[in-house]
Amino acid sequence: MNSNDILVQCVIVVLAITTISSNYGENKSKLFVDAYAGTKYVKYHVAVINGLSNDILDVHCKGDDEDLHLQHLAVNTNFTWSLRTAFFYKVSYDCTVHWEEGGEIKFNAFIDDSKFLDYGCGGRHCFWKTTDFGLYLWQIHNRTFVYKYGWPGKQILRVDNIYVMV
Ligand SMILES: *[C@@H]1O[C@H](CO)[C@@H](O)[C@H](O)[C@H]1NC(C)=O
Ligand SMILES: *[C@@H]1O[C@H](CO)[C@@H](O)[C@H](O)[C@H]1NC(C)=O
Ligand SMILES: *[C@@H]1O[C@H](CO)[C@@H](O)[C@H](O)[C@H]1NC(C)=O
Repeated sequence: MNSNDILVQCVIVVLAITTISSNYGENKSKLFVDAYAGTKYVKYHVAVINGLSNDILDVHCKGDDEDLHLQHLAVNTNFTWSLRTAFFYKVSYDCTVHWEEGGEIKFNAFIDDSKFLDYGCGGRHCFWKTTDFGLYLWQIHNRTFVYKYGWPGKQILRVDNIYVMV
């Protein structure tokens, strides 16, 4: 084997490694953006977590033709349900969370579209969490709770518009 052959083999190995790692990168990022599965019959899990420091959280969620009933959550507990997307319409769930001190926040907890699933919640698990500051949505892309809404009855100094770690 002369030195030219060795050089050629080295180049081939480097190319192969580059191809494998860039494929891996592609597939890895694909994992994150495929939460939205179109009109397929796909299962998702939604949770509302009471992260208040010291109070009961009332949660009332409703689907298109389903009432999930009023829930009283103790601190650090959650209300969780599963759903499947439908073929002919966009499944959607609206919730109201109520905290005696902060008031009421109404929000769309789940909607079968890519804007919400790929860029909002980012996965098959959509976790909402209330704290004394407001309501956050778990975003799987950067593994953080993203601040969404404040309590109407609370005046909060907004430290950071986009990233608020809780
Ligand atoms: C990435 O996905 C492509 C096409 O879906 C596939 O051919 C390739 O083997 C995958 N690579 C890895 C590392 O999983
Ligand atoms: C909800 O509570 C259960 C029981 O404590 C726990 O196992 C689960 O991880 C919680 N889910 C979330 C999203 O916090
Ligand atoms: C992290 O979350 C923020 C807020 O939703 C978003 O703007 C940003 O693009 C996310 N980062 C990544 C790497 O997905």
